[in-house]
Amino acid sequence: MISIRRGERKDAPMIACIEKEVMKAPWPLEVFDHDLSEDSPWVFLVAEEDGEILGYLDYMVTFDSSTIASLAVRRDAQRKGVATLLLDRMEEELRKEEETVLTSTLEVRVSNEPAKALYRKRGYLPVCLKKGYYEDGEDAEYYVKGLIS
Ligand code: COA
Repeated sequence: MISIRRGERKDAPMIACIEKEVMKAPWPLEVFDHDLSEDSPWVFLVAEEDGEILGYLDYMVTFDSSTIASLAVRRDAQRKGVATLLLDRMEEELRKEEETVLTSTLEVRVSNEPAKALYRKRGYLPVCLKKGYYEDGEDAEYYVKGLIS
């Protein structure tokens, strides 16, 4: 059974490995080691099955908005609802925040059709284009989801 838990510093190597496998411009291990430390503002959620991490999501809350930095699922675990479980859990956590969180936002490469399909299915709306957002010059679509109905 797949379960979702908070990510910890010990998870950095497995997370970096998934990042390297599926991301176009992966962050190195040192970034995850730093961002998973206790004083980091980033919140990591990991999806785990039989002690193995299948995917992860990290986000940060700033005032009444939350930003997703990364969401990635191991190739052999894709299309099994892992990203959906991670996004469900993130929204559950955001509803528990002391200050009401109104929106969840993220950037996605314009060429990333699977991710765009996922976010649209989850109720995210593309609101603008960020020209040349990525280091290789690719544009990002900026998505927003309202969390309060
Ligand atoms: N093609 C089209 N739609 C897709 C898709 C694909 N390859 N992958 C997911 N979706 C959409 C579908 O609507 C899917 O529902 P369905 O399977 O019932 O049709 C829905 O998203 C939920 O899919 P889910 O199984 O929860 O997604 P996943 O666990 O496979 O993870 C990604 C999706 C995008 C996170 C995964 O493909 C991934 O890690 N990609 C590489 C990293 C990446 O691009 N991250 C996003 C950066 S912003």
